[in-house]
Amino acid sequence: MKKMLIIDAAMRQESRTRTLLHAFLEGLQPDVFQIAHLKLDELRPQPLNEVTLYLRTRLVNEKHYDDPMFTLARQFSEADVIVFAAPYWDMSFPAVLKAYIENICVEGITFRTSETGLQGLCRCEQAFLLTTRGGFTETGSQDDQALPYLNAIGRLTGYGDVKVIAASCLDIAGMDHEGLLADACDQAREAGEELSCRMNPRTMV
Ligand SMILES: Cc1cc2nc3c(=O)[nH]c(=O)nc-3n(C[C@H](O)[C@H](O)[C@H](O)COP(=O)(O)O)c2cc1C
Repeated sequence: MKKMLIIDAAMRQESRTRTLLHAFLEGLQPDVFQIAHLKLDELRPQPLNEVTLYLRTRLVNEKHYDDPMFTLARQFSEADVIVFAAPYWDMSFPAVLKAYIENICVEGITFRTSETGLQGLCRCEQAFLLTTRGGFTETGSQDDQALPYLNAIGRLTGYGDVKVIAASCLDIAGMDHEGLLADACDQAREAGEELSCRMNPRTMV
């Protein structure tokens, strides 16, 4: 089975981003993916501080990659599919996702340095960003700072560019919020189906 890691930065019980995530999961074929679902609001990864940065640097220098401090990074590097589910906050995403990323960007686990530059060590074949936005921001526009950042992390760690499925305008009065979300959910479901066909060893060509 392929390993799927869901990094869920939704914060609200009624989160529409999580509705999008559920539609994506509905599209998956059974028995293709072994899914780990990290709810960041429960996990509460901490940003690095002076103490943890020194500790981490020492552990990396001594190559103690099996230390519990690196559990998240090892899990990230071993995922075949990575799904970021994150609402659009302040032009990008909630800070807890940045804190998570600080925890997984570990030299020797998710990337390494070489004479020719940085090299990603993650085995992920496909990454997704599922997001919902209150305003008019469109994917790839100047105001969308989530995508360029996650793509940069993809270049660092090796998962490549993320495929984005988004619903915008969900807080704009007079817009068809349910219809916009339903359209995005259809796209998410189809993306899940397509991914399953591509990664199911029984249907791979
Ligand atoms: C703290 C916070 C910051 C937000 N920042 C933006 C923003 O910069 N631009 C925007 O269009 N919507 C913004 N929104 C609205 C959310 O993107 C929108 O309501 C989204 O659908 C929330 O996702 P959820 O339903 O999964 O919680 C913000 C909402 C919150 C709570």
